[in-house]
Amino acid sequence: MTEQEIRKGLAGVVVDSTAVSKVVQETNSLTYRGYPVQELAANCSFEEVAYLIWNGELPTAEQLAEFTAKERSQRAVDQKLVDLILALPQDTHPMHVVQTAVAYLGAVDPEAETTGEDANYEKAQRLYAQLPTIVAIDHRRRHGLDPVPPTTDLGYSANFFKMVFDEVPAEEVVRCFDVSMILYAEHSFNASTFTARVITSTTSDMYSSVAGAVGALKGALHGGANEAVMATLEEVGTADNVKAWLDAALERKEKIMGFGHRVYKNGDSRVPTMKKAFEAMVEVKGASDLYSLYTAFEEDFVGRKGIYPNLDYPSGPAYHLMGFDTPQFTPIFVMSRITGWTAHIMEQQASNALIRPLSAYHGQEQRSVPAKDAAG
Ligand code: ACO
Repeated sequence: MTEQEIRKGLAGVVVDSTAVSKVVQETNSLTYRGYPVQELAANCSFEEVAYLIWNGELPTAEQLAEFTAKERSQRAVDQKLVDLILALPQDTHPMHVVQTAVAYLGAVDPEAETTGEDANYEKAQRLYAQLPTIVAIDHRRRHGLDPVPPTTDLGYSANFFKMVFDEVPAEEVVRCFDVSMILYAEHSFNASTFTARVITSTTSDMYSSVAGAVGALKGALHGGANEAVMATLEEVGTADNVKAWLDAALERKEKIMGFGHRVYKNGDSRVPTMKKAFEAMVEVKGASDLYSLYTAFEEDFVGRKGIYPNLDYPSGPAYHLMGFDTPQFTPIFVMSRITGWTAHIMEQQASNALIRPLSAYHGQEQRSVPAKDAAG
């Protein structure tokens, strides 16, 4: 194999087909099961979109009622899992907490190894219902607070706020969060989804695939970027500092978090919708300084490099204004992407082929082990 044939990072390689979502590079568009993500964000709840991602169609009123009732009934996690999370070191990375919890849920599920669409859909729905509880327990533990149990009378996003802050904010704040959940839900063969599909392709179980996907999402080049964006904005501090900060960072050849995308080269299709949600949060919180910094940074960087923001650029500061602490941003991404991951896991199982690419070799030529001296 020649070096020209190597596709570093699998860039441009089509490894399989999917019916879950479609990304069109040329038009910067993203559809879930055929529906443009912007229309879903404008007209649907995250619960409806989760149903769509798994079932291929938007729910009827009756289907939605049944679906949400099931999610609400499954929110509570068993006390042993709460104790396990509380026993972890105080500074455990929140994504490691999530990964540990997912592995625990697999360890105690007697059906963990059962495959088939029904069994997997059950597991996917349980993970979707329980991940917010896990993320909220971890948030409160890091702040020295007792867990707030889930309720059954609040929607998915409102219940999450209640479990984290012990109160539900204004409706527009809950809606901004819900929009972010819709936008993060699915994105074809991104690194974490592909990781889940690789693990599934070995016939491993759903929990193992999800735990692996959590690990892939943690990195700053993928889901961890929403946290890194906030860290950058905090470091830059004010709009006046943008130019000097970017001069120095680009001189050091640093990647600027929240910008660039492997697929979209002319702008991420999800950004305008998330930017609107961020602007709504700026309005609610009166955060004009953060907004000036955000726009100044974007204008300067895009002007220099022609590299556009991705979804993590507006979502990081939006979560900050919603009151979440930065280490919680990527676990929130997990709460949403669990829908896409599990849909892909089921799709992979339905038409499986072991994912096992080739590599070109650039090490030592074959050689013989030297004879050992008889004296040792
Ligand atoms: N900052 C500075 N330069 C960049 C950036 C960036 N954010 N993104 C790309 N570039 C430059 C590269 O340095 C490279 O320049 P060169 O050709 O002079 O070497 C060129 O653009 C091409 O970059 P690649 O890294 O080859 O592009 P790739 O498609 O592999 O990278 C990636 C995509 C990893 C997302 C990259 O843009 C990046 O690191 N961005 C920052 C991290 C980030 O925001 N990740 C979130 C992705 S979206 C999500 O997961 C929801």
